Amino acid sequence: MSLLSQNYLSQFKDAINELTRFTMVYKFAMDELNTKINILQEEFQYVHDYNPIEHCSSRLKSPESILQKVIRKNIDFSLPEIKENIKDIAGIRISCSFISDIYRISEMIENQKDVELVDRKDYIKNPKPNGYQSLHLILKIPVFMSDREEEVYVELQIRTIAMDFWASLEHKIFYKYNKDIPDRLKKDLKDAAFSAAELDKKMESIHKEVNQLKKVNEE
Ligand code: GTP
Ligand code: MG
Repeated sequence: MSLLSQNYLSQFKDAINELTRFTMVYKFAMDELNTKINILQEEFQYVHDYNPIEHCSSRLKSPESILQKVIRKNIDFSLPEIKENIKDIAGIRISCSFISDIYRISEMIENQKDVELVDRKDYIKNPKPNGYQSLHLILKIPVFMSDREEEVYVELQIRTIAMDFWASLEHKIFYKYNKDIPDRLKKDLKDAAFSAAELDKKMESIHKEVNQLKKVNEE
């Protein structure tokens, strides 16, 4: 092997190492937030005899989609730039039973002293023009490793199961679809989002009434 190609190989190995370390930190941050969510869930169940979380999922952005976003958003191709500009490399999604649970959970997480709230988009109070609803938080979480501490961004999406149902199907049908969609279909989809929101409100009010009845019966 020539000296030149040996040098190239070692540079390549260094780059792979650097990238692996870079993405590992996001997995650690995601693990930490998942643990926080599990603790809240277990403790809440114990204290209030009620579980506000229906399900929870997490994902790491693939190198391909990181690269796509780098190109789409015209970000400089360096790790510090990627870190500062792509805040959804680690993503967690919580589906709650009721709208009030979304705010309860977000408050419990935002108030933890090692969690910094960087950005909050409330698409429930202000739905997107297509009808999309969800609460999005960008959180910064410290990760402690053998030789350093890093602050890592994690995107947390909190929604009801009805919002999740709509978003999952809309994603399958339309999201990131570049071509023009007929207005009639856009309207149908928005109507469906409205129906999902109505369903959420109805379930919330039933839930509240049942709780009231329970309280009266206990007195
Ligand atoms: P991205 O660059 O795509 O991450 O969007 P953004 O930086 O403008 O952030 P935003 O909070 O609007 O959306 C982030 C994420 O929310 C997306 O990656 C999706 O997971 C979800 N999302 C946002 N808008 C929609 C939508 O209209 N439909 C669906 N199904 N999901 C959406
Ligand atoms: Mg995203």
